[in-house]
Amino acid sequence: MKISRIDLFDDAVFNAWHAAASEGVGAGRHDPPLYSAAQSAVAYRATDGPYDYELYGAVVDGEIVGTVRVELPKHDNRTLADIEVAVVPAHRRRGIGSALFEHVAERVAELGRTSILGVVNQPIGADEVPGYAFASKFGLTRRNVEMRRILPLPLPEGLLDRLEAKAAAKVGGYRLHAWSGACPEEYAEQYANLKSLLMSEAPNGEMDYEPEVWDVARLRADEKKTEAQGRDLLTVIAVAPGGEIAGHTQLALTREGESRVYQWDTLVLPEHRGHRLGLALKVANLRALVAGYPGRSGVETWNAVQNGPMVSVNLELGFREVERYEEWQRG
Ligand SMILES: CC(C)(COP(=O)(O)OP(=O)(O)OC[C@H]1O[C@@H](n2cnc3c(N)ncnc32)[C@H](O)[C@@H]1OP(=O)(O)O)[C@@H](O)C(=O)NCCC(=O)NCCS
Repeated sequence: MKISRIDLFDDAVFNAWHAAASEGVGAGRHDPPLYSAAQSAVAYRATDGPYDYELYGAVVDGEIVGTVRVELPKHDNRTLADIEVAVVPAHRRRGIGSALFEHVAERVAELGRTSILGVVNQPIGADEVPGYAFASKFGLTRRNVEMRRILPLPLPEGLLDRLEAKAAAKVGGYRLHAWSGACPEEYAEQYANLKSLLMSEAPNGEMDYEPEVWDVARLRADEKKTEAQGRDLLTVIAVAPGGEIAGHTQLALTREGESRVYQWDTLVLPEHRGHRLGLALKVANLRALVAGYPGRSGVETWNAVQNGPMVSVNLELGFREVERYEEWQRG
């Protein structure tokens, strides 16, 4: 077994790495939400994005059977390395995962990264996944637990009308404003600021993770990447009576080849809470989704289990539990 660094720009090698990573990361899970090879290539090759990426493969008899993706934040969290180790099921329990982890731990230490973060996905109702014992072996501990949920589409008749009426009773002088694609210039600065608040405002347990640093340049780079990945973005903001943005929600969907939709950020700023804006924003965005993109299969979302207000909105909408998404960290 040999561990090699993957050339991100060599399509054949990259695609082989991506196939092995998808098999390893997705094994045993319900419809795992994985980026396509083309979408991953856009993210990993971007030079103006907020992360540097390094990929490694464990090669046995000329075939990649184990993979690691290393994500290195550039603007914040500069002592952190987010890693995803995966081994295809037929080659597990032979030390390949350990060899990959040790290789990468040495590499990120050289780069000055003192903390390692990894995710373990545990499907609801399945036997305990090996990721727990694996992460423990290398000294990572559980820091945050999120639940992945899916809202099946189409929605039941009348659901959005009923929830819209419920929200309207408390929305008061706030108004909603929706767009698709890039954020209008007039809101860009405030919107970037809202993005940077998500990590400090949304609960993330005991994770050692700094708030992300967003500015208009990062927002625009992110929109450019999303467009290059063939994805559409649907956004709704709530505007307070004084004119400032009080909150937002965002859905992302691939134009062709994938029928699911992703719920990205939803945030209502603390001073604007208590007006059912979380529900109002999500209902408005689901309406835009249903009207503009018929035939989609469902919406995926992740929330920290202790995030009571967001979880209760999602349960009202009909989201169902699929798997636990646990963030484990060392250092
Ligand atoms: C976790 C994973 C990478 C392990 O790969 P692997 O090549 O089988 O790992 P190793 O053979 O090096 O095992 C390392 C340790 O993990 C633990 N482990 C791995 N599989 C296990 C299992 N099925 N049951 C119990 N412990 C297990 C053991 O502690 C093992 O050490 P040991 O062999 O000395 O007992 C692999 O199962 C996988 O790809 N899972 C899905 C992705 C994932 O969870 N990644 C880890 C996120 S941090």
